[in-house]
Amino acid sequence: MAHRVTLIPGDGIGPEITDAALRVIEATGVAFEWRRLDVGEVSLAKGGELLPQEVFDSIRETKVALKGPVATPVGKGHRSVNVTIRKTLDLYACLRPIKSLPGVKTRFENVNFVIVRENTEGLYSGIEHMVTDTVAESLKIITEKGSTRIARFAFEYAKKNGIKRVTAVHKANIMKVSDGLFLRCAQAVRADYPEIDYDEMIVDNCAMQLVRWPEQFGVLVMNNLYGDILSDLGAGLIGGLGVSPGANLNAELALFEPIHGTAPDIAGKGWANPTALLMSAALMLEHLDERAAAAKLRRGLEATLGAGEHVTRDLGGKASTTEFADAVIAAMR
Ligand code: NAI
Repeated sequence: MAHRVTLIPGDGIGPEITDAALRVIEATGVAFEWRRLDVGEVSLAKGGELLPQEVFDSIRETKVALKGPVATPVGKGHRSVNVTIRKTLDLYACLRPIKSLPGVKTRFENVNFVIVRENTEGLYSGIEHMVTDTVAESLKIITEKGSTRIARFAFEYAKKNGIKRVTAVHKANIMKVSDGLFLRCAQAVRADYPEIDYDEMIVDNCAMQLVRWPEQFGVLVMNNLYGDILSDLGAGLIGGLGVSPGANLNAELALFEPIHGTAPDIAGKGWANPTALLMSAALMLEHLDERAAAAKLRRGLEATLGAGEHVTRDLGGKASTTEFADAVIAAMR
């Protein structure tokens, strides 16, 4: 039976990488019934809403979604489409595997850690206002419920995947109340996982350690803002935004999407790297228990990246998005 999946190509390079990714995903042999929906600028341009209600209804129904990037205008009235989707559907856990890829030249070779980012609260709660004409205030919300469930998610992920270390990343030296609560919750959850090493690291030190010695880490769990920033740092360690996948999850729903944005500087040129979306699709196939297809996709991707002949410009090659996808499909056979 075909898997029903909500498909959101998104803005900018989103439609280009989605078209390429769909061909690769379908070449794995797994049958899909895609429910394709527009959001963001693409939807506005067609006279629709920025974020139609249909998106929420569809994801609740199909339970699984694959999404490209969506632009959020900076400093204007719109609330971020991405944050709204994650919050409305309570997709509280953002999973970002950071793993070195063959053929992608970086400063490190054996990077393999996972960032687990809390997705629904923290400084991205969207509670902001002007106090006076010249003073703005933004509230950081940390709850016991939110912190406990993300810590539980991180430890469960470590346990299932045989990862020996969980690090809680924080700034409780300054934000003693909010990040202090986050740490107390992580410590309480940790008691249920005595077999896993647990430590705590201040976020600025963590940024430095990630750049100097990334091989030391296993699972890193943290609030929204720190996770957003350190995920991009992690992406930089393994070859950039074009190769870094992500998933937004709760116990029932799963939305898979690359870390990167709409790349307005290269949108429409046919240069975008679809790797991050394809790796997100591999995570989706694993979630759907299509493990053989996920392995096939990863093999094709890694062979193409490893050979280096048909890679996109961000990785030092000359291939177009389409040529790259063709090479992946050929390498999957
Ligand atoms: P960006 O990720 O779009 O671009 C940063 C740099 O990385 C650019 O030079 C771009 O060309 C390059 N890049 C990104 N993805 C690439 C790919 N697949 N292949 C080759 N090069 C790639 O970040 P930026 O410019 O900060 O954001 C642009 C827009 O995207 C903003 O409106 C932002 O709100 C939105 N955004 C959306 C996200 C999402 O939908 N999940 C995540 C991050 C940003």
